[in-house]
Amino acid sequence: MTTETQQSTDGGGVATSGETLTVTDNRTGRTYEIPIQDGTIRATELRKIKVDDDDFGLMTYDPAYMATASCRSAITYIDGDRGILEYRGYPIEQLAENSTYLEVAYLLIHGHLPSRQELDEWDHMITIHTFVHENVKEFMQGFRYDAHPMGMLLASVGALSTFYPEASAIKDPEVRYTQVIRLLAKMPTLAAFAYRHNRGMPYVYPDNDLSYPANFLSMIYKVAELKYNADPRLERALDVLFILHADHEQNCSTSAVRSVGSSQVDPYSAIAAGVAALYGPLHGGANEQVLRMLRRIEHKDNVPDFVKGVKAGNERLMGFGHRVYKNYDPRAKIIQRACYDVFEVTGTNPLLDLALELEKIALEDEYFIERKLYPNVDFYSGIIYEALGMPVEMFPVLFAIGRTAGWIAQWLEMIDDQEQKISRPRQIYTGPRGQQYVPISER
Ligand code: CMC
Repeated sequence: MTTETQQSTDGGGVATSGETLTVTDNRTGRTYEIPIQDGTIRATELRKIKVDDDDFGLMTYDPAYMATASCRSAITYIDGDRGILEYRGYPIEQLAENSTYLEVAYLLIHGHLPSRQELDEWDHMITIHTFVHENVKEFMQGFRYDAHPMGMLLASVGALSTFYPEASAIKDPEVRYTQVIRLLAKMPTLAAFAYRHNRGMPYVYPDNDLSYPANFLSMIYKVAELKYNADPRLERALDVLFILHADHEQNCSTSAVRSVGSSQVDPYSAIAAGVAALYGPLHGGANEQVLRMLRRIEHKDNVPDFVKGVKAGNERLMGFGHRVYKNYDPRAKIIQRACYDVFEVTGTNPLLDLALELEKIALEDEYFIERKLYPNVDFYSGIIYEALGMPVEMFPVLFAIGRTAGWIAQWLEMIDDQEQKISRPRQIYTGPRGQQYVPISER
């Protein structure tokens, strides 16, 4: 048996902990020692395992990235087994209790909590960039009257790249910073315009006297009044929802932003990819599906039958289950409590009782216990959104506003990460080879 000891640094030249993995290739009898760092081996180390010199080397096959870390990140920490979520080390519960969305955005993007002066400047910069070019308004008007607002958001945020062509200079920190401010500032404006379009109502311009969430509510609900002042409890509830959605490490949409951004495209195009991923029913579209599901169940008495259907595989219990959380999603707990604050203003929503009943029955059921399926962030968020008067189509849009801070933070981290290159997975080719072209007349 031949023994080859691999280098004791990882592929990036980072000193390892000295822990290693010994692998024996039973095809050749060769043994390899692969460095372990942070509980991970570098997939490229496996490429050194070859049958002969012409062999490409061993690869990992990991559809859906079930066991692949695609980056190093210092932004968000999740312990899915224990139901822990931290942004830059701060527990989500503390941030939801004490912070504002814009402060959390600062934290995610800069890596530290701002001083009073830093926060005031940050808030000011974002506030004064909330307006969009009049042509944005015009092209949004070109959508069909019943266009889904998420589709409109996806298109319009991507279109911002044409208004700010300088944004393609992604290596320039100052240019980048301007786009960061613009993205955070304009996302609510685009979202509100999409909503008003869908309702056939005139667009409302931003009101720079108002806070971030209050301005958004004003752009959504203002009709003929000179000034729209949202109830502070609703303003706060919306801000908390933005905080809870601000980041969630390498989820589908964030991976999309990183992957598309790795081509060095401008940030508007990369964030548009994030919005597209979030549009899907298994990601940001889940809260919309939860509401539709609850409405369909209609009454508590129908819950057992519905659960029976889920267990039989007829459909999924939307708002339940998570790739990472195998425990109660901490965000779901905070949102469930926030429902009651909102109901103080809006009156109760009977769907909450239905959701609580569904949760109770599911959490006692062997099917859900065995698979560690718990409510996720989407299970209760739709109930609040509905109480705020939002139609279901707006739910993923609201998610996207909050997630913008995370997408930006992750995009910036990726740009500065010397280890990152253009994202380009490998494949296992399963198709035919060497086919001979047959003219169409002979087929
Ligand atoms: N209802 C019923 N069964 C479920 C559910 C559910 N919601 N989620 C997972 N399962 C079952 C699944 O059928 C499978 O069972 P079996 O082992 O017998 O085949 C097992 O649990 C493992 O499921 P999975 O599909 O392999 O798990 P995943 O990690 O690939 O999927 C998920 C995660 C979030 C896509 C999935 O749980 C799901 O579809 N949930 C409903 C949609 C939802 O609420 N999405 C929001 C996610 S959180 C916010 C966000 O990311 O946007």
